[in-house]
Amino acid sequence: MGRQRKSLGNRIDNVAKWLLKFRIISSPARYISNSKITWSLISRTDRIRTRRLEGRIKNGEMPNHISIIMDGNRRFAWSQSLEREIGHLKGKDKLKQVMEWVLNLKIKYLTVYALSTENMTGRDSGELESLYDLYQIGLNEIAEDPLIHSKKVKVQAVGRLEELPERVRVAIKNAEDRTEGYSNFIFTVCLAYGGREEIVDAVKEVAIDHAAGRLPLDEINSEQISNRLYSAEIPDPDLVIRTSGEERISNFLLWQIAYSELYFTDVHWPSFSRNDLYEAIESYQYRRRKYGK
Ligand code: FPP
Repeated sequence: MGRQRKSLGNRIDNVAKWLLKFRIISSPARYISNSKITWSLISRTDRIRTRRLEGRIKNGEMPNHISIIMDGNRRFAWSQSLEREIGHLKGKDKLKQVMEWVLNLKIKYLTVYALSTENMTGRDSGELESLYDLYQIGLNEIAEDPLIHSKKVKVQAVGRLEELPERVRVAIKNAEDRTEGYSNFIFTVCLAYGGREEIVDAVKEVAIDHAAGRLPLDEINSEQISNRLYSAEIPDPDLVIRTSGEERISNFLLWQIAYSELYFTDVHWPSFSRNDLYEAIESYQYRRRKYGK
């Protein structure tokens, strides 16, 4: 259904692009598209669409665990001629909004990929330092957020946290300590995280237990690995969303996504809207109905 709507949208776009080649059409088109009336019509239509989508997805099977690869902060910034730091800042604010939407849908688990092990070696120190500042600020904001406390959200960070600067680790501890008594919802931030590294760490623990005589060879199975992952108590994600057009997993939750539905959207993370979230969930529900897992 989503694909049908997309191809109709593409055809309309193509006709519009072709018509806009003619000056006699492009001048009034520009005037109309910039007018207040058009924008109020668009935002009204958008609100109606959001309500309809919300009604539809609430009638279906909701995912229990959504995880997100928040990609495209810098491309968003470049597309708007903004500094890359502003792109990341808008990304942080978007995360808080998305948390609210997910909580309102009563989805228990939300996990986000905020910094990969590759990011830590592949970005210049100026960008990394400003990202660390952002995690510090963002985690402290989350720790104080009234919504987190009213909905009783447990906040936790996973990854090779020992590789993060002290100020980020202090902010993680603050958010975890302030929410440790909660269990209605679980929000997990993956920082200094790599899926392969997580599997390697779990395998090392298995090896240690085997060498110590606690785990015989014939008892080593996938459950033993799952039990030793960073967030062993969290169920595998039902739906993984990646923004900004790349269609790959980039070392995110490699073990856990064996059976997850994957959803890719072209939208840059700071522009991710409530409609985009609902469309991802609708696509998940459609695939579940169709392939009935
Ligand atoms: C990927 O976009 C995004 C990041 C590496 C950082 C994401 C961080 C946030 C959204 C803030 C999170 C805040 C807290 C508190 C956890 P990119 O920089 O790779 O952009 P690009 O794909 O356009 O290059």
